[in-house]
Amino acid sequence: MHDDIAQVLFTEQEIANRVREMGGAITRDYADVARGEGIVLVSVLRGAAIFMADLARQIELPVEMDYMAVSSYGNGAKSSGVVRILKDLSSQIEGRHVLVAEDILDSGLTLNYLLKNLSSRKPASLEVATLLRKQTPAQADINCRYVGFECPDEFIVGYGLDYAERYRNLPYIGVLKPEIY
Ligand code: PRP
Repeated sequence: MHDDIAQVLFTEQEIANRVREMGGAITRDYADVARGEGIVLVSVLRGAAIFMADLARQIELPVEMDYMAVSSYGNGAKSSGVVRILKDLSSQIEGRHVLVAEDILDSGLTLNYLLKNLSSRKPASLEVATLLRKQTPAQADINCRYVGFECPDEFIVGYGLDYAERYRNLPYIGVLKPEIY
């Protein structure tokens, strides 16, 4: 696996440090509003599950973890913005403080759809924590309260991000060598 990586963008230690900072910020920001009931962390399978698992352990508040699975219509290479829900949340989120944990914001179309869908369920609040925000031209205008790193518009893998379902288990985030894809 490691031989397929052209360049490491974020090391395991850098990711751990940043996730700890994000968890600290979330703990402070939600301390008053969500002390009793806590927050509902939502991740979109599959890649974001790794980030959410680490982020949850850096939040010192009660946290519920829930998951959605979506599939985008279209050719599969780029998201089309039309999203079908394959697995919905298990919890009711009406009146709850919901934080969506995403691994990467690229075109923003997935999140754009998801935020509309979730907000129609009338949560008390709805925010986004994304580990990576790609510098993508014409990204949908999405208000992310927590952003881990800005990253270049390259083919990146690791820490949940895959190419053909591989490399998700790399502990760091790197650029895939072009000859691999
Ligand atoms: C990735 C990522 C986001 C989405 C971002 O998921 O986890 O959900 O793409 O892209 P966008 O901003 O252009 O909509 P993917 O569809 O690759 O599924 P995976 O998590 O199973 O790899």
